[in-house]
Formats: sequence, C-alpha cells, structure tokens
Amino acid sequence: MQRINLDQASTSFPKAPGTADAVFRYLTECGCNISRGGYQGAYSAEELVYETRVLLCRLLGGKNHAPDPKQVIFTKNITESLNVLIRGLLRPGDHVLVSSMEHNAVMRPLAQLEKRGIRFTRVPCDRDGSMNPEDLEALIEPATRAVVMLHASNVCGTVLPAAEVGAVCRAHGLFFILDTAQTAGILTIDMAAIGADALAFTGHKGLLGPQGTGGFLIRESLAEKLEPLITGGTGSLSHTEETPLFLPDRFEAGTLNLPGIAGLHAALAWLLDRPEGSILVQEQKLTECFLRKTEPLEEEGWIRIIGKRSTEGRIGVVSMVPLTLDPAELAFRLDEDYGIATRVGLHCAPAAHKTLGTWPTGTVRFSFGAFNTEEEIDEAVSAVSALCRPERKTWN
Ligand code: ALA
Repeated sequence: MQRINLDQASTSFPKAPGTADAVFRYLTECGCNISRGGYQGAYSAEELVYETRVLLCRLLGGKNHAPDPKQVIFTKNITESLNVLIRGLLRPGDHVLVSSMEHNAVMRPLAQLEKRGIRFTRVPCDRDGSMNPEDLEALIEPATRAVVMLHASNVCGTVLPAAEVGAVCRAHGLFFILDTAQTAGILTIDMAAIGADALAFTGHKGLLGPQGTGGFLIRESLAEKLEPLITGGTGSLSHTEETPLFLPDRFEAGTLNLPGIAGLHAALAWLLDRPEGSILVQEQKLTECFLRKTEPLEEEGWIRIIGKRSTEGRIGVVSMVPLTLDPAELAFRLDEDYGIATRVGLHCAPAAHKTLGTWPTGTVRFSFGAFNTEEEIDEAVSAVSALCRPERKTWN
C-alpha cells in the first residue's frame, strides 16, 4: 500500500533533496569536531557549521540577514531551545505572558518554574485560535518580564500576530521569545521586523532537515541576561572553569550534532534556492483543497473542522473532530486501511484544545508539507468520507 504522510507537523518527511547525502558525507568524509582541533578536517567542519548559521540568518533574519551568525545557537531541538531561553531568563518574582494556544514545550517549563515563584498568565485566544494583541497588552503587570508565544498553532494551524505582539513588547520593555516550530521554512520570517529578542527554531519540520537539530537566534541584549542551562567544554578559553560570555560558546557546551547540522545545511540551501513563499503557496493550495473538499462532510454532520475555514492567517495544519466515530479509531483506520498517517489526540498542547473546545477528546490532525500533492489530499478526503459515513457508525 502506498503511504501518505499527513503528519508533517510532527516531523517532515521526505526531507529536502541532498539532506541525507550531506549527513552521510559528513560521517564518511569529514567526521571531525569543531572548535577543538587545529587541522584541516576540523577547519572544514567549522566552516560548515558557520555557513549553516549564515543560512539561518538568511532565512529567518529578514533583508539584513540579522543577527550576526554568532548569535545563532545550536541545540538538539526547539524544546531544548525554549528551555534554555525560559529557564535562563526568568527569576522568582518574574511574570510572563503566553497565549492560550501554547505547546507543552513552553508550558511544562513554566509549570515547573511556577513552583519556584515565577508566574504566568495565558492570553485567551478565540475559538479559532486567533489572538488579539490588545488582550495581551491588557494583561501586562509591573512584574511582567517577557512574552513567550508560538508563531502558529500545531493543533489548528492558526498564525498568531507575532509582529503586533513584538511591537507591544517593545513599547513595554518586555523580552519577546517566539517559538517558530511550525512556521520556520514555511512563513517568511524576519526576526528584526517581528521585534523578537529570541527566535527558537527546529530543524526537522518546515526546515526539512534531520531530527536532533534546532536552536535559536538571539539578540545580545537578551543573551547577556540569560544564565546558561548547560555548561561544559566549548573548546574556547580552556584555561578557565568559567563559561565563556561570548556567543555562540556561552550556550553551546559539548559537541554539537555535526552530522545533523551538515544535513540541515543542505536542507537550508535547498529551501533558500526556492522562490520566496513558494512552500507556503503549496501548503495553502493543499489546505484550501482539503478544507473545500471536507465541507460537504461537515454539512452532512459527519465531521467538524476546528479553527479557521480559510487559508488566511494559517499554515497547512487542519484538525477535525469526527462525529460518527472515535478520533482514535479514525486515525487508526486511516493508517491501517488507507496508509494515511495523521496525529490524533491532544498534540502536546492541552491548553490549545481547551481554547478550541476540543478538550479532552482531542482531534485528528492532518498536516501538509512541501512534498504532499493534491492527489494525496483527495485520497485523504475520500478515506475520511468512507470512514465517517454514519452507516459505519461505531461510537456515540
Ligand atoms: N509538536 C509536534 C507535533 O505537533 C511534535 O506533532
């Protein structure tokens, strides 16, 4: 059976052409560490890592490709990035604002920190996942230090107003940490125009690179306030047991995932070769097609689409609640009978489901990527139609 991957929000597959080859080539032809050895292989690995930082600035840093490549920090994933940023910045007595759509990558660190006297307030979002920046502004307190927010929901695809929130943060002297897990590589992102002090990214979703890669771009003014979460050898200042203050070393202790970064380099090069916005156009085409073709199923009362009904202000992530069978059964049958991969449940984002009215049962999520096709969307819609028609009803 042909497999159709509509779980691209979880991790993209396939990866960008050249990614796997680059990982293989690093492991078979280079294999050297960076910042440690003074020999040819080490220099070429160093160059590869530096160039990857440059490519990230080109993709996420707007027209000026800002910030400086040394302000790009590599981590193993965006969860680690968010932990470094959140735990590094906040102190007892601080208060932070988050949206009510956040993923647990933000909420679990905050829930832990709450026990140590760091408070957070959720800015209530609408039933379609959208947020009004004025609601956020109204919740700022004297103790508010930062806003931590996702750029787009991993549950329903709604894009949050990052630039408007950035402007509010600047007006009130707050740090702004943006989680681009679902948007980097898809939306056009300009860190400076958004006004983000840190932009956390993952390499394995829209950037089409390998798992185990991620990081953040950070302004110096925020970096100097952060206590590093992980410290150790950096290859620099080896005479001292103090952590270097300069970037990226301050936040990059230990050996990096160099094969992963080699793969990410190839994926970024491929992405930057595409006309700007072309991946978004492709995802919007697929999303429009999916929304249009599932409309009759909704009219029949077989399913309910969650979130926005148009491609405006959203990425290629669509959640649905089946009304004639259990969501888990729908996802299971899609996989088992039709070879279609989706993600069912609460998507590590319980707050988002509470906002969207889909708690505690959750949804079946369809997420589209750069290499999905309209034919695959057609197959998914006819599979949903066949599985949800009431004569098959197995659940109340
Ligand atoms: N956060 C990822 C998802 O939404 C893993 O599936």
